[in-house]
Amino acid sequence: MKIEFLCLGTLLGFLLPACQQGGQHGHHHGHANEHMNRASFEELVSNFESSERKEWQKPEEVIALFGELQGKTIMDIGSGTGYFSFPLARAGARVIAADVDERFLNYIKEKKAEKGMSDEQIETRKVPYDSPLLDSAEVDEVIIVNTYHHIENRPQYFAQVHRGLKPGGRLWVIDFKKEETPHGPPLEMRLSPEEVQTELQQAGFASFTLNDTLLPYQYILIAQK
Ligand SMILES: C[S@@+](CC[C@H](N)C(=O)[O-])C[C@H]1O[C@@H](n2cnc3c(N)ncnc32)[C@H](O)[C@@H]1O
Repeated sequence: MKIEFLCLGTLLGFLLPACQQGGQHGHHHGHANEHMNRASFEELVSNFESSERKEWQKPEEVIALFGELQGKTIMDIGSGTGYFSFPLARAGARVIAADVDERFLNYIKEKKAEKGMSDEQIETRKVPYDSPLLDSAEVDEVIIVNTYHHIENRPQYFAQVHRGLKPGGRLWVIDFKKEETPHGPPLEMRLSPEEVQTELQQAGFASFTLNDTLLPYQYILIAQK
Protein backbone atom coordinates (compact mmCIF):
# COMPACT_ATOMS: atom_id res chain seq x y z
CA MET A 1 0.00 0.00 0.00
CA LYS A 2 2.79 2.31 0.97
CA ILE A 3 4.66 1.48 -2.21
CA GLU A 4 1.58 2.02 -4.33
CA PHE A 5 1.10 5.40 -2.75
CA LEU A 6 4.69 6.34 -3.43
CA CYS A 7 4.43 5.27 -7.05
CA LEU A 8 1.28 7.26 -7.46
CA GLY A 9 2.97 10.30 -5.97
CA THR A 10 5.88 9.88 -8.33
CA LEU A 11 3.63 9.35 -11.28
CA LEU A 12 1.65 12.46 -10.43
CA GLY A 13 4.82 14.41 -9.97
CA PHE A 14 5.88 13.42 -13.41
CA LEU A 15 2.70 14.48 -14.99
CA LEU A 16 2.50 17.72 -13.24
CA PRO A 17 5.20 19.77 -14.64
CA ALA A 18 6.40 22.52 -12.46
CA CYS A 19 8.33 23.26 -9.54
CA GLN A 20 9.65 22.56 -6.26
CA GLN A 21 11.07 25.98 -5.76
CA GLY A 22 7.77 27.36 -4.59
CA GLY A 23 7.84 25.02 -1.64
CA GLN A 24 11.44 25.79 -0.87
CA HIS A 25 10.83 29.51 -0.77
CA GLY A 26 7.55 29.29 1.06
CA HIS A 27 5.63 30.89 -1.81
CA HIS A 28 2.74 29.31 -3.62
CA HIS A 29 2.95 29.00 -7.33
CA GLY A 30 -0.26 27.23 -8.16
CA HIS A 31 -1.80 23.83 -7.59
CA ALA A 32 0.20 22.12 -10.28
CA ASN A 33 3.48 23.18 -8.71
CA GLU A 34 2.32 22.24 -5.25
CA HIS A 35 1.25 18.87 -6.58
CA MET A 36 4.61 18.26 -8.19
CA ASN A 37 6.45 19.27 -5.04
CA ARG A 38 5.21 16.12 -3.35
CA ALA A 39 7.85 14.09 -5.15
CA SER A 40 11.54 14.37 -4.31
CA PHE A 41 13.96 15.77 -6.85
CA GLU A 42 15.40 12.27 -7.46
CA GLU A 43 11.91 10.88 -8.09
CA LEU A 44 11.17 13.67 -10.55
CA VAL A 45 14.40 13.07 -12.42
CA SER A 46 13.76 9.35 -12.72
CA ASN A 47 10.19 10.00 -13.89
CA PHE A 48 11.16 12.59 -16.49
CA GLU A 49 13.97 10.39 -17.75
CA SER A 50 12.13 7.04 -17.60
CA SER A 51 12.93 4.86 -20.60
CA GLU A 52 9.24 4.04 -21.04
CA ARG A 53 8.48 7.72 -21.70
CA LYS A 54 9.99 7.57 -25.18
CA GLU A 55 7.12 5.36 -26.35
CA TRP A 56 4.49 8.04 -25.81
CA GLN A 57 6.58 11.22 -25.77
CA LYS A 58 8.30 10.45 -29.09
CA PRO A 59 10.88 13.23 -28.75
CA GLU A 60 12.57 12.57 -32.09
CA GLU A 61 9.26 12.62 -33.99
CA VAL A 62 8.22 15.84 -32.28
CA ILE A 63 11.56 17.45 -33.10
CA ALA A 64 11.27 16.36 -36.73
CA LEU A 65 8.16 18.59 -36.99
CA PHE A 66 10.37 21.67 -36.49
CA GLY A 67 12.13 21.22 -39.83
CA GLU A 68 15.70 22.50 -40.17
CA LEU A 69 17.08 23.48 -36.78
CA GLN A 70 20.67 24.22 -37.74
CA GLY A 71 21.42 27.83 -36.86
CA LYS A 72 18.10 28.34 -35.03
CA THR A 73 17.85 29.55 -31.44
CA ILE A 74 15.19 27.87 -29.31
CA MET A 75 14.15 28.40 -25.71
CA ASP A 76 12.90 25.37 -23.76
CA ILE A 77 10.70 26.79 -20.98
CA GLY A 78 10.52 24.50 -17.95
CA SER A 79 13.38 22.45 -19.33
CA GLY A 80 13.55 20.06 -16.36
CA THR A 81 16.24 17.47 -17.03
CA GLY A 82 16.58 18.67 -20.62
CA TYR A 83 14.43 15.89 -22.04
CA PHE A 84 13.87 18.06 -25.12
CA SER A 85 16.84 20.43 -24.76
CA PHE A 86 19.46 17.76 -25.49
CA PRO A 87 17.90 16.24 -28.63
CA LEU A 88 17.12 19.76 -29.92
CA ALA A 89 20.78 20.68 -29.49
CA ARG A 90 21.81 17.44 -31.19
CA ALA A 91 19.58 18.42 -34.11
CA GLY A 92 21.69 21.57 -34.50
CA ALA A 93 19.73 24.21 -32.59
CA ARG A 94 21.26 26.61 -30.11
CA VAL A 95 19.15 25.88 -27.02
CA ILE A 96 18.36 28.09 -24.03
CA ALA A 97 17.20 25.76 -21.25
CA ALA A 98 15.07 27.92 -18.94
CA ASP A 99 13.85 26.77 -15.55
CA VAL A 100 12.89 28.25 -12.19
CA ASP A 101 14.60 25.40 -10.37
CA GLU A 102 18.38 25.61 -10.06
CA ARG A 103 18.61 21.87 -9.34
CA PHE A 104 17.39 21.03 -12.83
CA LEU A 105 19.74 23.59 -14.35
CA ASN A 106 22.65 22.02 -12.46
CA TYR A 107 21.54 18.60 -13.68
CA ILE A 108 21.67 19.92 -17.26
CA LYS A 109 25.08 21.54 -16.72
CA GLU A 110 26.51 18.24 -15.46
CA LYS A 111 25.01 16.22 -18.29
CA LYS A 112 26.28 18.81 -20.76
CA ALA A 113 29.82 18.50 -19.36
CA GLU A 114 29.63 14.69 -19.51
CA LYS A 115 28.62 14.88 -23.15
CA GLY A 116 31.32 17.45 -23.90
CA MET A 117 28.73 19.94 -25.13
CA SER A 118 29.42 23.68 -25.21
CA ASP A 119 27.56 26.71 -23.85
CA GLU A 120 26.86 27.60 -27.48
CA GLN A 121 24.88 24.39 -27.82
CA ILE A 122 22.97 24.66 -24.53
CA GLU A 123 22.79 27.74 -22.36
CA THR A 124 21.08 27.35 -18.98
CA ARG A 125 18.97 30.31 -17.85
CA LYS A 126 17.48 30.62 -14.37
CA VAL A 127 14.15 32.36 -14.82
CA PRO A 128 11.62 33.74 -12.34
CA TYR A 129 8.08 32.34 -12.25
CA ASP A 130 6.62 35.33 -14.05
CA SER A 131 9.03 35.88 -16.95
CA PRO A 132 10.95 33.90 -19.57
CA LEU A 133 13.63 36.65 -19.45
CA LEU A 134 13.77 36.81 -23.22
CA ASP A 135 15.24 39.80 -25.03
CA SER A 136 13.15 41.24 -27.79
CA ALA A 137 13.27 38.98 -30.88
CA GLU A 138 15.94 36.82 -29.24
CA VAL A 139 14.74 33.39 -30.41
CA ASP A 140 13.30 31.61 -33.45
CA GLU A 141 11.29 29.06 -31.48
CA VAL A 142 10.00 28.47 -27.95
CA ILE A 143 8.97 25.03 -26.72
CA ILE A 144 7.10 24.37 -23.48
CA VAL A 145 6.48 20.72 -22.63
CA ASN A 146 4.14 19.62 -19.82
CA THR A 147 4.71 23.00 -18.21
CA TYR A 148 2.15 25.38 -19.75
CA HIS A 149 -0.48 24.68 -17.09
CA HIS A 150 2.03 25.52 -14.36
CA ILE A 151 2.48 29.08 -15.52
CA GLU A 152 0.39 31.74 -13.81
CA ASN A 153 -1.00 34.91 -15.44
CA ARG A 154 -0.51 33.23 -18.77
CA PRO A 155 -1.68 36.00 -21.14
CA GLN A 156 0.90 38.38 -19.60
CA TYR A 157 3.58 35.69 -19.49
CA PHE A 158 3.08 34.66 -23.11
CA ALA A 159 2.98 38.26 -24.28
CA GLN A 160 6.61 38.31 -23.13
CA VAL A 161 7.23 35.10 -25.07
CA HIS A 162 5.61 36.73 -28.12
CA ARG A 163 7.94 39.73 -27.80
CA GLY A 164 10.93 37.39 -27.42
CA LEU A 165 10.22 35.62 -30.71
CA LYS A 166 11.56 36.83 -34.05
CA PRO A 167 8.94 37.74 -36.67
CA GLY A 168 7.48 34.46 -37.94
CA GLY A 169 8.83 32.68 -34.87
CA ARG A 170 6.82 29.86 -33.31
CA LEU A 171 5.71 28.81 -29.84
CA TRP A 172 5.18 25.06 -29.37
CA VAL A 173 2.89 24.09 -26.50
CA ILE A 174 2.93 20.37 -25.75
CA ASP A 175 0.65 19.35 -22.94
CA PHE A 176 -1.75 16.61 -21.86
CA LYS A 177 -5.11 16.19 -23.56
CA LYS A 178 -8.12 17.00 -21.39
CA GLU A 179 -9.24 13.38 -21.22
CA GLU A 180 -8.31 10.33 -19.15
CA THR A 181 -4.80 9.20 -20.07
CA PRO A 182 -2.37 6.78 -18.38
CA HIS A 183 -0.02 9.71 -17.73
CA GLY A 184 -0.62 13.34 -16.91
CA PRO A 185 -1.91 15.62 -14.18
CA PRO A 186 -5.45 15.38 -12.76
CA LEU A 187 -8.06 16.32 -15.35
CA GLU A 188 -9.07 19.52 -13.56
CA MET A 189 -5.56 20.91 -13.96
CA ARG A 190 -5.46 20.34 -17.71
CA LEU A 191 -6.22 22.91 -20.38
CA SER A 192 -7.71 22.02 -23.72
CA PRO A 193 -5.91 23.29 -26.82
CA GLU A 194 -8.90 25.62 -27.39
CA GLU A 195 -8.36 27.17 -23.95
CA VAL A 196 -4.65 27.54 -24.62
CA GLN A 197 -5.37 29.14 -27.99
CA THR A 198 -7.74 31.70 -26.42
CA GLU A 199 -5.08 32.68 -23.88
CA LEU A 200 -2.39 32.91 -26.53
CA GLN A 201 -4.63 35.12 -28.67
CA GLN A 202 -4.82 37.46 -25.68
CA ALA A 203 -1.01 37.32 -25.58
CA GLY A 204 -0.79 38.51 -29.20
CA PHE A 205 -0.53 35.30 -31.22
CA ALA A 206 -2.81 35.14 -34.26
CA SER A 207 -1.96 32.00 -36.20
CA PHE A 208 -2.36 28.47 -34.84
CA THR A 209 -1.80 24.88 -35.95
CA LEU A 210 -2.96 21.93 -33.86
CA ASN A 211 -1.50 18.46 -34.01
CA ASP A 212 -3.41 16.09 -31.73
CA THR A 213 -2.60 12.89 -33.56
CA LEU A 214 1.17 12.40 -33.30
CA LEU A 215 1.19 11.85 -29.54
CA PRO A 216 -1.30 9.57 -27.80
CA TYR A 217 -1.71 11.54 -24.56
CA GLN A 218 -0.68 15.07 -25.53
CA TYR A 219 -1.46 17.69 -28.14
CA ILE A 220 0.97 19.99 -29.87
CA LEU A 221 -0.33 23.51 -30.42
CA ILE A 222 1.90 25.67 -32.58
CA ALA A 223 1.35 29.42 -32.35
CA GLN A 224 3.13 31.63 -34.87
CA LYS A 225 4.11 35.26 -34.43
C1 LIG B 1 6.92 18.53 -15.49
S1 LIG B 1 8.41 19.39 -15.62
C2 LIG B 1 8.66 19.26 -17.36
C3 LIG B 1 10.11 19.20 -17.69
C4 LIG B 1 10.43 19.01 -19.15
N1 LIG B 1 9.83 20.03 -19.98
C5 LIG B 1 9.97 17.65 -19.60
O1 LIG B 1 9.05 17.58 -20.43
O2 LIG B 1 10.53 16.64 -19.13
C6 LIG B 1 8.05 21.10 -15.38
C7 LIG B 1 9.27 21.96 -15.27
O3 LIG B 1 8.86 23.34 -15.32
C8 LIG B 1 9.58 24.07 -14.36
N2 LIG B 1 8.74 25.25 -14.09
C9 LIG B 1 7.65 25.35 -13.31
N3 LIG B 1 7.13 26.60 -13.34
C10 LIG B 1 7.93 27.30 -14.18
C11 LIG B 1 7.95 28.66 -14.63
N4 LIG B 1 7.03 29.54 -14.24
N5 LIG B 1 8.94 29.04 -15.48
C12 LIG B 1 9.87 28.15 -15.90
N6 LIG B 1 9.92 26.87 -15.50
C13 LIG B 1 8.97 26.45 -14.65
C14 LIG B 1 9.81 23.08 -13.24
O4 LIG B 1 10.92 23.43 -12.43
C15 LIG B 1 10.06 21.78 -13.99
O5 LIG B 1 11.41 21.61 -14.31
